[in-house]
Amino acid sequence: MENVPYKTLLPEGVRTGTVMRIRGVVPDKAGRFHVNLLCSEEEGAEVALHFNPRMDQSTVVFNTKEKGTWGQEERGHGLPFQRGQPFEVLLIATEQGYKAVVGDSEYHHFRHRIPPARVRLLEVGGDLQLESVKVF
Ligand code: GAL
Repeated sequence: MENVPYKTLLPEGVRTGTVMRIRGVVPDKAGRFHVNLLCSEEEGAEVALHFNPRMDQSTVVFNTKEKGTWGQEERGHGLPFQRGQPFEVLLIATEQGYKAVVGDSEYHHFRHRIPPARVRLLEVGGDLQLESVKVF
């Protein structure tokens, strides 16, 4: 079990083929949690990917934050998370973007807006029990 917010440095950024695996459990009364790929450790850092399962809205929001402003949201179809259930998310960096795989299925492909080489920090937070984070 890991404490949240969980942060791990990615000093060399993210490359095509980088796989980030997040395993956890959605608590019974969960609202939202997030996985952020941040471009620095500073407050107000740009967010290259915000992956944001919202149990309260039955959706998953994907976005970036540039110069302090959220961009246009993308949402996947349906909600592949359930309160009280374990999950595994893979965020796979491709040439074009980030492929989010939840369980056994590809959920959404989010096109790069910020070069993945600029990513420096992976952060996981919000309403979840975090089992493990692995970067391959
Ligand atoms: C906002 C929310 C942020 C973030 C953003 C993504 O409404 O307050 O936490 O999820 O949406 O677009």
